[in-house]
Amino acid sequence: MHSIHEYRDEFVNYLNSKKLTKEPKNLYEPITYILGLGGKRLRPVLVLLTTEIFNTDYTKALDAALAIEVFHNFSLVHDDIMDDAPVRRGEITVHEKWDINTGILSGDAMLIMAYQLFENYEPPIFRELAKLFSKTALEVCEGQQYDVDFETRDDVMLSEYLKMIEYKTAVLVAAALKMGAIVAGASETSQEHMYAFGLNLGIAFQLQDDYLDVFGDPETFGKQVGGDIIENKKTYLYLKAINSESEMMTKELEHLYSIQPKETETKVNAVRSIFKKTKADVATQTAIADYTAKAFEVLEEIEIEQNKKNILRKFGENLMNRTV
Ligand code: IPE
Ligand code: IPE
Ligand code: MG
Ligand code: MG
Ligand code: MG
Repeated sequence: MHSIHEYRDEFVNYLNSKKLTKEPKNLYEPITYILGLGGKRLRPVLVLLTTEIFNTDYTKALDAALAIEVFHNFSLVHDDIMDDAPVRRGEITVHEKWDINTGILSGDAMLIMAYQLFENYEPPIFRELAKLFSKTALEVCEGQQYDVDFETRDDVMLSEYLKMIEYKTAVLVAAALKMGAIVAGASETSQEHMYAFGLNLGIAFQLQDDYLDVFGDPETFGKQVGGDIIENKKTYLYLKAINSESEMMTKELEHLYSIQPKETETKVNAVRSIFKKTKADVATQTAIADYTAKAFEVLEEIEIEQNKKNILRKFGENLMNRTV
């Protein structure tokens, strides 16, 4: 087994060895740009790590890892258009640096490139990877559509929110772990266990993303802090606050989410303060810990050595404590 940062370095070396920019430049340059902005490289690391957990050389999984990361970055380019986001990983977003049409087409090309990478696998593995990938990618689209639909709905239930984040975020984390198991030829039971572990971890991950969107440090977060509030996103924080016992808080929050002010800072500050007063911030932290704990429960059932479980556990704990 290697360390997390070794997997990350090996993955980045592999990514850099691919010369992505060719003609027409306006199609490929944005792809090189977004992939070069870095990010945590969480999903590809999980692919490589899982492959080695099931006793297979991680280099066999580099193309699957790259496919997942290219798909993830495609989803971010389109997500930033949909969320009207100005900043990604501390830099200007693709659709603002170029334009919306460029973001759409370069994103489309990335989705296709991701698929193409599976062609490097032999038929049985190719089929399993492609099947999982198609299912996952479609679910991500469904999750993204719910996310947008919820912006203009005022009756979103917590259960609907949880389904939405499971689809838009958790299934891809789960698929990363399952892909590693597929490449390694692990048993179906092991594959499903890894998937379930990733699904719970992925839900915790998106809850944390929602939390950081409001309470993150603008200096280090890499995205516009308060972006979800500006877009009236129905996050866990919002749903906890809107269902709080204080009628005054609920009314004020409803009002704040019904206006589109020119000066967004006042709205963000007012909503942030309601999230604190209603203890929606505490409830979100509790939910993050609960879903991480659920992931660890699944981990106990997996038939792998204890030291390997410890690596996955440490990975989960680090995610919970992240600031980016
Ligand atoms: C951002 O994902 C989108 C979500 C699903 C929350 P990451 O937080 O993994 O983004 P990067 O790749 O590290 O920038
Ligand atoms: C992202 O959700 C989910 C996908 C990109 C599929 P967010 O909209 O919360 O992600 P960020 O916060 O912009 O990274
Ligand atoms: Mg977004
Ligand atoms: Mg979004
Ligand atoms: Mg977010």
